[in-house]
Amino acid sequence: MGVLEGRVAIVTGAGQGLGREHALLFAAEGALVVVNDVGRSTSDSGSSLAQSVVDEITASGGQAVANTDSVSDWAGAQRLIETAVKDFGDLHVVVNNAGILRDRMLVNMTEEEFDSVINVNLKGTFAVSHFAAQYWREQSKLGLDADRAIINTSSGAGMQPGIGQTNYAAAKAGIAAMTQVASKELRRIGVRVNGIAPFARTQTTQATPGLVERLAEAESRNGFDPYHPGNVSPLVTYLASSQCHMTGHMFRVVGDFIGVYEGWHLVDSFENGQRWEVTGVAQALAGVPSEPVTDAPKMPS
Ligand SMILES: NC(=O)c1ccc[n+]([C@@H]2O[C@H](COP(=O)([O-])OP(=O)(O)OC[C@H]3O[C@@H](n4cnc5c(N)ncnc54)[C@H](O)[C@@H]3O)[C@@H](O)[C@H]2O)c1
Repeated sequence: MGVLEGRVAIVTGAGQGLGREHALLFAAEGALVVVNDVGRSTSDSGSSLAQSVVDEITASGGQAVANTDSVSDWAGAQRLIETAVKDFGDLHVVVNNAGILRDRMLVNMTEEEFDSVINVNLKGTFAVSHFAAQYWREQSKLGLDADRAIINTSSGAGMQPGIGQTNYAAAKAGIAAMTQVASKELRRIGVRVNGIAPFARTQTTQATPGLVERLAEAESRNGFDPYHPGNVSPLVTYLASSQCHMTGHMFRVVGDFIGVYEGWHLVDSFENGQRWEVTGVAQALAGVPSEPVTDAPKMPS
C-alpha cells in the first residue's frame, strides 16, 4: 500500500519539471492525480504536456486525468477543483507548483513581466487554494472530515532574495506568507498547509546563466545526482500524506538536503520610553549593520 493510497491530488504545472516528478511519485504511491498544466509540447504536434504525464501514469497502472486550465484564471482554478471532485469523487491534496520566471533588474522590468509572474505564482497559488478551501469547508460542514493538505512552492529567491527577481522574489515570499495565513485559517477544517523552496535541474534552471555548468557537471557524476528534480518529490509526498503531523512550515529541499526555515524575526530592538527624536533614532541605530546579514541557502556542492 502506498502512502497516498486512494487520496485524490491535484498537482499544478505538472507537465514537466518538478511537478511531473511529484505527479509520478504520487501515482506510484496510490494517489489519483489531476495533472494540471497549460503547456504544450514544442517538439512534436503541440500535444498537451499534462496529457503526456497522464499517459505515463496510466501506462504504469496508475490513475490520472489531465486539466489544462491556467491556475491564474479565476474560473479555471474553480474548474480544476471541480475536475478532481467530478472525476475522482473527492479532493485531499493540492500541490501548488505552477510557476514562471521573467528575470530582469528592477530598473528595466516591464509591467507585463511583473504582472505575469505575480499572476501565475502568487495569484495562481491563491486561486487554487481558495476554491479547494471552499470545497473542504463544505465537506467539513457536512461532517465529511478527512486529512487534507496543501503544499505550496516558494523558492530560495523568495526566502533569501537576491538581484534580478523583484517580481519572482515578491511572489515567492508572498507564497511563504500565504502558507502561514492559510495554515492558521484552515487548521480548524483539518487542512495542513506547508511549503517548499526547492532547487533542481529543470528547463527553468537550465536556462539560468551560471547554473548550466554546475547542473551538467552534477548530472555526469556517477551515482547520486543531487539536482535530479525527482529528489524533491519524496518530501512533497510525505507532506501530502496523512503521516505528516506538521502545518505552517517552509522547507528547503535540494538533493538529499531537507532544511526547516524560520521566518523574519527580530534580532535587535531599541526603546526609550517616549516618542523618539530623530537624532536619538540615529544614535540608537548606529550599530546596526549597513545591510542585513543573510546566509545563502545551503546547497549540495
Ligand atoms: N527548478 C528549480 O530549481 C526551482 C527553484 C525554486 C523554485 N522552483 C519553483 O518550482 C516550481 C516548478 O518549477 P520547475 O523548475 O519544475 O518549472 P518548469 O518550467 O519545468 O515547470 C513549470 C510548469 O508550470 C506550467 N505553468 C506555467 N504557467 C502555468 C499556469 N498559469 N497554469 C498552469 N500551469 C502553468 C508550465 O507550463 C510548466 O510546465 C515553480 O513554482 C518554480 O518557481 C523551482
